[in-house]
Amino acid sequence: MTDRQTLMAFLTANLLIVNMLLSLFFLPGADYCSGQTPALIITTPNILEALTGSCLQIPCTYETEHPTYNSSKTIYGVWIKGGINLLSSPGIIFHSSGSINNYSLDITGNLKEKNCTTLFPNLTTRYTDKYFFRVENGAFRATAIDDPLQITVKDSPWSPSINVTSDLKEHQSVTVTCSAFTPCPNSPPELTWNLQQDSLRHTEKNTDGTFTTKIQENITLSDTHDGYNIRCSARYPVIGGNKTAETEVTLSVSYAPKDTSASISPSGLVSAGSWVELSCSSRAKPPPTFTWFRISEHGDINVSVGQIYSFNATEGGEFYCEASNDLGQQKSFVILVDIKDDKASEFQILNILKILGIVLLCTGIIIFECWFRFCNKPKKEPEEPIYVNHAMVTKTQ
Ligand SMILES: *[C@@H]1O[C@H](CO)[C@@H](O)[C@H](O)[C@H]1NC(C)=O
Ligand SMILES: *[C@@H]1O[C@H](CO)[C@@H](O)[C@H](O)[C@H]1NC(C)=O
Ligand SMILES: *[C@@H]1O[C@H](CO)[C@@H](O)[C@H](O)[C@H]1NC(C)=O
Ligand SMILES: *[C@@H]1O[C@H](CO)[C@@H](O)[C@H](O)[C@H]1NC(C)=O
Ligand SMILES: *[C@@H]1O[C@H](CO)[C@@H](O)[C@H](O)[C@H]1NC(C)=O
Ligand SMILES: *[C@@H]1O[C@H](CO)[C@@H](O)[C@H](O)[C@H]1NC(C)=O
Ligand SMILES: *[C@@H]1O[C@H](CO)[C@@H](O)[C@H](O)[C@H]1NC(C)=O
Ligand SMILES: *[C@@H]1O[C@H](CO)[C@@H](O)[C@H](O)[C@H]1NC(C)=O
Ligand SMILES: *[C@@H]1O[C@H](CO)[C@@H](O)[C@H](O)[C@H]1NC(C)=O
Repeated sequence: MTDRQTLMAFLTANLLIVNMLLSLFFLPGADYCSGQTPALIITTPNILEALTGSCLQIPCTYETEHPTYNSSKTIYGVWIKGGINLLSSPGIIFHSSGSINNYSLDITGNLKEKNCTTLFPNLTTRYTDKYFFRVENGAFRATAIDDPLQITVKDSPWSPSINVTSDLKEHQSVTVTCSAFTPCPNSPPELTWNLQQDSLRHTEKNTDGTFTTKIQENITLSDTHDGYNIRCSARYPVIGGNKTAETEVTLSVSYAPKDTSASISPSGLVSAGSWVELSCSSRAKPPPTFTWFRISEHGDINVSVGQIYSFNATEGGEFYCEASNDLGQQKSFVILVDIKDDKASEFQILNILKILGIVLLCTGIIIFECWFRFCNKPKKEPEEPIYVNHAMVTKTQ
């Protein structure tokens, strides 16, 4: 074979495939001119996910400009299940005449209003496939091959999503939403979370016709919400039980400095000319910057920036720190740096020792005196009963 012959054989084979496709999709009576707008256009999401043992509502509408379409005549809706390989004979699984219904489908939409909304009542993973919609209306018969619908059936449910605006700040009032994908609006998932228990559940229709179930709560943020975990769980009712999935979100809330306090090291009196370290601490998000101030008659003086202020204590003073971030600032209480006068204190200690010595001496003397007197008295007492006894004895004699 020459290259030309190979090419011809290839093209012939392809032509055959195209002919087969046309015969499968455009059964006798189909009127489809290639290159023009398709005879039938359906509007559905391209991809739909569903849960085994639950239902799936396919939002669907169709459009046709074809002259042979006549809504006064009976309209039949047909669903065809077929893989990507269109040559493996795509099977009709539903015909609204009632002749075929392999999957218990139900077109709930009104075909006269071009509404082809369809309900799969009970899915299994075997239903995962591409589906095509077809309309039969007298001589008009067309399949929307350009608008396949991919249905994916999963065994495990979707985790709900928790929505809360980003950039949270204290004192802000925000709406927290937990929402769950709802393929089966007839039996929407039960949503529960660790915020308010009685949050009202509502199922809403999205713009593409699918549904979402939500619970919502407004909270006024405070610093205690920072790091708080919001857990939301979605319990999908399925045939013979429930399927549950959970989501967790940690709040990150910015707040102005709190619990600002200052400490001094070493504590107590410090000697002049020694190093003193003042340290400031505070809770804040984002982390605060610290400024140290010294109180003076002419207003407070900014003496240092930073958490720790250490200096050579040449003179005493009153200090405080201020923590600040984007959201505010807070002052600590005032800390007193008290310089001890070394000579004076030595003198004082000596005096204290002297007084202590004298006091000890006096007490010693007093105790000795008391003991001496007390011990001399009781010595007489044991003699008397002997004397009395003796007297009594002599009396009886
Ligand atoms: C549509 O069908 C009805 C009933 O068969 C018929 O009376 C009517 O003339 C048709 N309309 C068109 C535009 O063909
Ligand atoms: C639908 O069911 C019929 C009979 O129950 C069967 O012959 C046919 O192959 C089925 N079609 C598909 C696409 O499964
Ligand atoms: C189609 O019919 C369904 C009822 O099965 C309805 O919920 C939906 O709103 C209808 N869609 C349009 C576009 O009218
Ligand atoms: C749902 O589908 C499963 C699997 O096909 C089947 O075993 C079950 O009986 C069905 N349940 C109902 C209520 O149709
Ligand atoms: C939740 O947030 C995501 C992105 O963060 C967004 O795509 C989605 O639409 C939001 N949902 C709701 C219900 O606000
Ligand atoms: C939450 O706040 C929004 C406006 O910010 C308001 O529309 C909504 O009704 C509030 N919801 C509740 C449950 O208070
Ligand atoms: C499913 O969940 C519902 C609440 O949403 C509960 O009342 C029911 O007992 C659960 N069923 C099973 C089989 O767990
Ligand atoms: C503190 O300053 C004084 C006077 O300037 C100096 O004599 C002393 O050595 C300094 N002390 C320290 C620990 O640096
Ligand atoms: C304190 O002084 C430093 C530099 O001297 C300056 O950068 C800082 O802004 C001042 N802080 C305050 C609160 O005044």
